[in-house]
Amino acid sequence: MLFPEGVAIDGKTGAVTPETGRYVKRLSELKGIYQDQAAFQRAVSDGNDPVAYEVIDYRNKESDLSFGTTIMAPGQVGGEYFMTRGHYHERPECGEAYYTQSGEGLLLLESRDGEVRTVEMKPGICAFIPPDWAHRSINTGKEKLVFVWFCATDAGHDYGEILTKGMRKIVVERDGRYAVIDNPAYTKASA
Ligand SMILES: [Fe+2]
Repeated sequence: MLFPEGVAIDGKTGAVTPETGRYVKRLSELKGIYQDQAAFQRAVSDGNDPVAYEVIDYRNKESDLSFGTTIMAPGQVGGEYFMTRGHYHERPECGEAYYTQSGEGLLLLESRDGEVRTVEMKPGICAFIPPDWAHRSINTGKEKLVFVWFCATDAGHDYGEILTKGMRKIVVERDGRYAVIDNPAYTKASA
């Protein structure tokens, strides 16, 4: 039986207390999501395979609802900002919410029929991710990006399509700020 409790979330560090689990993604585990392979190899070796992001859970199998934090390091690979792998949910009826605590970023979303949207991530904004939209978060700032996510426990992650085809848009730095541009690799794959 589960009991109610207050879970402390540190909006600066992303610490969740108590936490039920966590995982770390190092840059080397994100091979293939960036355009510039040489820059990717350099960023991995020069940075000693830096932590790109970390996810901390408050999750119980017996509950339909889970939440937790994602902590994204700042950084770039060949002009593209550090980003998460991006995924659809295995259960397409499951939406999600991302409530930004600190830092700044961009949430990149794509529907099955090719609609692309972005939502700016900054403190005070809770982003709504509708069911069956792929979503990827991107740290466009110079500090850590920390956000709280709320999701169905069994929503599941479907990474396959995003890993093989990419997303239609990429987010790069242009003149000191972010720009959303067409993904040349995606265009090639679907031509
Ligand atoms: Fe998700």
